[in-house]
Amino acid sequence: MEKSLPTTEQAPRAAASKNRVRSTISTFLLVALTLYLLAPSIGDTRHHHPQKHDTAKSSCVQPPLLFPPTTDESLQRMWQYVGTEAFKNASIVRHSGAVKIDTSSFDDMGPVGEDKRWDTRFAFHDYLAATFPRMHEGLKLEKVNTFGLLYTWQGSDESLKPLVLMSHQDVVPVPASTVDAWTHPPFSGHYDGTFIWGRGSSDCKNQLIAVMETVELLLDAGYKPKRTIVLSFGFDEEISGKEGAGTLAPVLIDRYGENGVAAIVDEGAGFNSQWGQVFALPGVAEKGYTDVHVTVRTPGGHSSIPTDHTSIGILSELISKIESVQYRTYLADESPLLGLMQCGASHAPDFPPKLEKLLGKRSNSLHQTCKARPDDLALEAAKAGPSVKYLMQTSQAVDVISGGVKVNALPERTTVTVNHRINIGDTPETVWEHLTALAKPIAEKYNLTLHAFDGTKEAPLSISLSASETTLNVAPITPTDLDTISPYAILAGTTRAIYGEHVVVAPGMMTGNTDTRYYWPVTKHIFRFGPGYDPATDAGLGNIHTVDERISVVNHVGMVKWFVLFVRNMDGADLG
Ligand SMILES: *[C@@H]1O[C@H](CO)[C@@H](O)[C@H](O)[C@H]1NC(C)=O
Ligand SMILES: *[C@@H]1O[C@H](CO)[C@@H](O)[C@H](O)[C@H]1NC(C)=O
Repeated sequence: MEKSLPTTEQAPRAAASKNRVRSTISTFLLVALTLYLLAPSIGDTRHHHPQKHDTAKSSCVQPPLLFPPTTDESLQRMWQYVGTEAFKNASIVRHSGAVKIDTSSFDDMGPVGEDKRWDTRFAFHDYLAATFPRMHEGLKLEKVNTFGLLYTWQGSDESLKPLVLMSHQDVVPVPASTVDAWTHPPFSGHYDGTFIWGRGSSDCKNQLIAVMETVELLLDAGYKPKRTIVLSFGFDEEISGKEGAGTLAPVLIDRYGENGVAAIVDEGAGFNSQWGQVFALPGVAEKGYTDVHVTVRTPGGHSSIPTDHTSIGILSELISKIESVQYRTYLADESPLLGLMQCGASHAPDFPPKLEKLLGKRSNSLHQTCKARPDDLALEAAKAGPSVKYLMQTSQAVDVISGGVKVNALPERTTVTVNHRINIGDTPETVWEHLTALAKPIAEKYNLTLHAFDGTKEAPLSISLSASETTLNVAPITPTDLDTISPYAILAGTTRAIYGEHVVVAPGMMTGNTDTRYYWPVTKHIFRFGPGYDPATDAGLGNIHTVDERISVVNHVGMVKWFVLFVRNMDGADLG
C-alpha cells in the first residue's frame, strides 16, 4: 500500500518496517477506535440494553454463507487439496521465492527502459513463469509498459463483465542501515513454522501469489469460467503507480469500456476485532488528496530600510489564519464509517450505548444535510483521537516552507505547501475555496494581487495559490447493498463461507490510496481487501508489527481459499 499518512518514524527499527506500518495503518485506526469505544464512557453507566436499534439493525443484515451451485469431482478434490499440508508446504515455497526477489521501487526512479533499477522485475516475471506453468500456457499474457502484467482467462460467456483481480509486484526498499534490525533478513523469505518473513510478504506479494495460485488450481482442476477473469499487476504502486497501474487501467477501459468490469479486488484493509465482534472490512472508500502551494512575492530592498511587512511576515499571517480554523468533523451520509457503526450496533455485543443512541437519532432523522449543525455522532466518535477523527475530517498540515536568502536583503519570495487529505463529502474545491477566502483579506490588506487557482503559480506583488498535480478527489464509494445480488453481497457471503458466520462484513475505509486510483472508470465495484485471516496471529493489536514484515501461512492459505471461492461465486452470479 502506498503511504497514506505522514509517517514520522524516528528509530531505525521503525523505519525498517515502515512498509508494514503503512499496510496496517487502516487496521490501526480501527483498533484505536475500538480501544476508545470499549472504554465505558463517563456518566453513562446504564446497563447495555440487549435490544438493538431496529433502524440500525435493518441496515446490516448479513448474507448467508455463499457456495457455488455445483461442484464436480475434480473441483471437490482441488478444494480438499487446498486444505492439506502438502498444499501449505508448496505454497510456502512459492510465496517465499517471490519475497526473495527484491523488486523495490525508489522515489527517484528514472524512465522505464533507462533506469536499470526497474529491471529486477524481469527476474520476478521469470520466477512467476517457472512457478505457474499452467497459467503461462493457458492464459493470454500481455506486458504493458514492459513490466505491467495483464493475464486474461477468457470466459465462455462474453455477455458477462469480467472480474479483475489486482496486486502489485513492487515493494518499498529496505534501507541498508536498517537491515540489521530484521529478525530474519528482509529478502530471505524465511519460514519459521508460522510466518513467512520479508519485505513484500504482506504488502503485497502474498495477494499476488494467492491470486496466481488460485488460477493455477482452477486450471489444474479443469475449471472453465463463464466470466472472464483478468489479473492486473502493476509494478510501481509504492511510488504512486503511474507507470504500472497508470498504463494498465487504460488498456482495460479501452477493452471493456467504462464500467465494463463486474468488480475489482485489490490489496487493502482486512479483518479486525472490535466491540467484541470480528469484522471483515473491505475498503470501499478512500480519502481525497491535495497539496496547495502558496507563494507571496513582495518588493526586495535593503533590510536597513525595510517595509513594515516582508513576504515572510505576510505569509506567516496567512499560515496562522489557516491553522486557526479546522475543517468540520462530520460523517457524510455516504461515509462507510456510518455503515460500520450500524453493523456494530446491530451485531457487536460491546457497542457503546452512547454511540448507539446517537446513531439511532441519526438514522431516524432524514439526512445529515444541514452542514451548519454539529454532527454529534462524528464528534462523539472522534473523541477516540486524531487517527479516528481524520477518518471524518479533512486534514490540513503546513509541511514545507521557504523564504529569504540573505540577512541584509528583504525576502522577495516566500512559499509554503499545505497538505490535505479530503474527507468523504468534501472535494479539493472545498479546500481551495476555503484557502482563497482566508487569503483574500490578507492580499487586500497588503495591496497584493490574489491569484487563487487561476493558473498563475506566482507573479510580482501577489499572493498565488495553486494545487499540486497529485490532487485526487475522494474515491467513488463502492455500493454496499446487501439486499440484491451485488458484488459486495457476493464478497460478504464468500467471506462468511470461508471464515464462519460469526464474522460480520462491514464497509471499511482507507486513509491512503492503492493502485485502484487509476481504475475508477473501470467499475463502480472496487474492493481494497486482503481476504486472508488468521485469528491466532491477526487478532487485535497482534496484527501491528512495527518491525519485521511477515505473513502467517494460515492467513495466506485462507486467502487462496477465499479467492477460489470468490471467483467461483462471481462466475455463477447473475449481476444483471
Ligand atoms: C511439510 O513440511 C514439513 C516441514 O518441512 C514436513 O515435516 C512435512 O512432512 C511436509 N508435509 C508434506 C505433506 O509434504
Ligand atoms: C496598490 O498597488 C497599486 C499597484 O499595484 C498602486 O498603484 C497603488 O498605489 C497601491 N495602493 C496602495 C494603497 O499602496
